Amino acid sequence: MEQRPLGRTGLSVSAIGFGAASFWGHPAFPETDAVRLVHRALDLGVTLFDTGPAYSRGQAEARLGRALAGRDPSALVVATKAGTCFEGGRVRRDMSLPAIEASLELSRRRLGLEVLPLVHLHGPSAAELTPDFLGGLQRLRDRGLFLQLGVNSFDPTVIEAALALREIDTVMVDINVLRPERVPLVARAAAAGKGVLAGMPLAMGHTAPSRLRDLRPSSLWYALRALKNHRADMSAGRRFRFLHQQPDITGPQALLAWTLAVPGVSAAIAGTTRLGHLEENVAAPGLPLPENLAVRIARTQQGELAKKISK
Ligand SMILES: NC(=O)c1ccc[n+]([C@@H]2O[C@H](COP(=O)([O-])OP(=O)(O)OC[C@H]3O[C@@H](n4cnc5c(N)ncnc54)[C@H](OP(=O)(O)O)[C@@H]3O)[C@@H](O)[C@H]2O)c1
Repeated sequence: MEQRPLGRTGLSVSAIGFGAASFWGHPAFPETDAVRLVHRALDLGVTLFDTGPAYSRGQAEARLGRALAGRDPSALVVATKAGTCFEGGRVRRDMSLPAIEASLELSRRRLGLEVLPLVHLHGPSAAELTPDFLGGLQRLRDRGLFLQLGVNSFDPTVIEAALALREIDTVMVDINVLRPERVPLVARAAAAGKGVLAGMPLAMGHTAPSRLRDLRPSSLWYALRALKNHRADMSAGRRFRFLHQQPDITGPQALLAWTLAVPGVSAAIAGTTRLGHLEENVAAPGLPLPENLAVRIARTQQGELAKKISK
């Protein structure tokens, strides 16, 4: 699999990263299936794995640790989050330094790693990124808890603030066909030397036909999440259904190819619970986006942007 540099970190990552989150880490998804997916991803050359202590009702991080047990950590980039956890049946946010320190210690144990290669602050506000806070994080880094520090946010003002900070090495943003307005932000991030990870490159499945009739637990779970949290994206996604009706490339591969072609993107992190989907996704970096399809995507994006502006 194609490997790409991650900004100025000195690390290289596989163009497709494995999202150890969502239904993959959910207790309702069997551990044997989840582990099999990780092992297949490793066999296919995936070296980047993304998780977090709050993902999948707090279960994803430890599950990833078990799936990667016995593997050479120096060959992988395991990325996790700090600033959120799952407690009392819900995601709890605490961006204080003591909470982050405790979270990093837990992540090291769950992932079985002496040093965390990459940690993203999970949804900080721009105001929280103060010199004191960053200095405290630097002390944790100097103590050897983690190597690279990033910011994961889907708020462009937070990412913009992170670009000016020398303590921040990477950003994880929501760049996909439904977010073309992020393209200049990604270019500025790359110009600032930050590694850029695309956090929801498959647009969470919103461009694909509805899966409500597919009775797999994972499909129902993703469909219900979409209905609960992402109605606007579901509606915009319908205009991109044509991506899933192409002769030379599948819909998910077209989505990934579009994201990976955005200048500055190091890797696209895709979540899946199916081996066939994993194999399809991992094949995407080798596939060019057909010219006519790129033109149609751009035209549809312009139409969607014009609608947003006129609202
Ligand atoms: N979403 C967020 O808010 C967020 C925030 C920060 C970071 N991230 C990171 O980004 C990763 C990806 O996010 P995500 O899981 O929310 O969304 P995603 O990767 O954009 O979409 C996952 C959805 O796409 C489906 N899918 C994957 N490959 C497919 C294929 N080849 N064909 C058809 N369907 C396919 C999955 O279903 P199947 O299981 O059936 O394949 C699932 O429904 C996460 O795992 C996490 O590491 C996400």
